[in-house]
Amino acid sequence: MGKIARMKTIQLILPMLLLSFLLLCSVVAADDAPQGDPVLDLINVLGCKGCHTINKEGGSIANDLTQIGSRLTADQIKKKLATGVTKHPNIFMPDYSSLSTSDLKRISAYLYNLQ
Ligand code: HEC
Repeated sequence: MGKIARMKTIQLILPMLLLSFLLLCSVVAADDAPQGDPVLDLINVLGCKGCHTINKEGGSIANDLTQIGSRLTADQIKKKLATGVTKHPNIFMPDYSSLSTSDLKRISAYLYNLQ
């Protein structure tokens, strides 16, 4: 490779290296930034804690979900969300079947792993 060609290669590679370094930095920085757990945000938005206690926080209209994973599998929790719970005559749980499958999975996996 001639001297000029080598210079050109370096001129091309250097900015690319710099760019990947900057990208890497921003990924690491994003990891460090304090931010809420997206699943928790979802649970808050959906108002589960209006009725249920989750990790010592929330209402007591329905049962505490903190230990739910010791009684139900993640799949059973998912089914409860998707069908609604209408066991009680006066109070019922909203039907969350309109949530996406991935949201349902994330919520049930989160609750299951709380135990
Ligand atoms: C309007 C009140 C209300 C809201 C809001 C609500 N639930 Fe419920 N939930 C209930 C009631 C009532 C039951 C039935 C409790 C029972 O069987 O004693 C129930 C049952 C459940 C069960 C089954 C519990 C068990 O022990 O079998 C799970 C899991 C659950 N809810 C999760 C959730 C999640 C996750 C959310 C938010 C996405 C949510 N609930 C929102 C009222 C509510």
